[in-house]
Amino acid sequence: MQEVRKAVLPVAGWGTRFLPATKAMPKEMFPIIDKPVIQFIVEELLGAGVENVIFVTGKHKRPIEHHFDINTDLEKHLEEAGKEKILQNIRKISHMINPIYIRQKQQLGLGHAVLTAEPAVGREPFIVALGDIILERGEEAITGMLDIFSRFGKSVVALFEVPEEEVSKYGIAKVKEIEEGVFLIEDLVEKPSPEEAPSNLAIVGRYIFTPAIFEKLKITKPGKGGEIQLTDAMKLLLEEEAIYAYKVENRVYDTGNPLDYLKTVFEFALKREDIGEELAFFLAQMLSKGTQLTDRT
Ligand code: G1P
Repeated sequence: MQEVRKAVLPVAGWGTRFLPATKAMPKEMFPIIDKPVIQFIVEELLGAGVENVIFVTGKHKRPIEHHFDINTDLEKHLEEAGKEKILQNIRKISHMINPIYIRQKQQLGLGHAVLTAEPAVGREPFIVALGDIILERGEEAITGMLDIFSRFGKSVVALFEVPEEEVSKYGIAKVKEIEEGVFLIEDLVEKPSPEEAPSNLAIVGRYIFTPAIFEKLKITKPGKGGEIQLTDAMKLLLEEEAIYAYKVENRVYDTGNPLDYLKTVFEFALKREDIGEELAFFLAQMLSKGTQLTDRT
């Protein structure tokens, strides 16, 4: 069986939910305090041993390329300023991955973005990781998915449980457990209403695909929101090949909309040794004054 050596990161989206901040700035570069969201995803892949990263990018996404490239001027400045620790960190990021950047000329949906990566992926299995979600100890999830792939040689999708009122934000799966912790997908629906949802198991944005997905993407018609949906292509793939599921039990941090992004930032910040305690104190003070209720705009 072919080894999974490559990951596709679709990063071409407009980031509409964060406009105007995303007019010139990729949402993938939004910081969780001082580390951009995209770096968390890349570190997750690296932790699972995958260092060939294909970014499906667009015209306003150049900062992502700069982030994973060498910045000699900055390195020189940090060296001269004697900021050794920061310098080491900056150098590490520049050498983290073997990146390939491929342009999605039109934003026709997630499925279309994945199809755009076909020339860089070729006929081999690959990971897809979406930038909206950060997984706590994400490398564990990717490693767990890779284990399932190496046993069965078929596509694997990671799922997590969501409250019923949130099913319409995600792709939702109907599954059958075949052994402890290993599931087979029986059906998939992209962003259903709570009434239509076959379960509360949502696609968390981590997938391993056999290259057969590309043939299905080529014949997938626009679906939800008029976009070519990856979930719809997976549904077509199901007619031919099994798709396995891995259930994520770790904490899932959504950064894809302003409220969840803020919650993620606060949660990470409160856990930080350097700023956590002071932030907690500040928040407690604000809440005790009732600021959140009276100053609402
Ligand atoms: C995409 C997928 C959806 C998945 C979600 C995870 O939706 O289409 O199936 O559950 O990512 O974040 P998006 O959030 O890009 O609208």
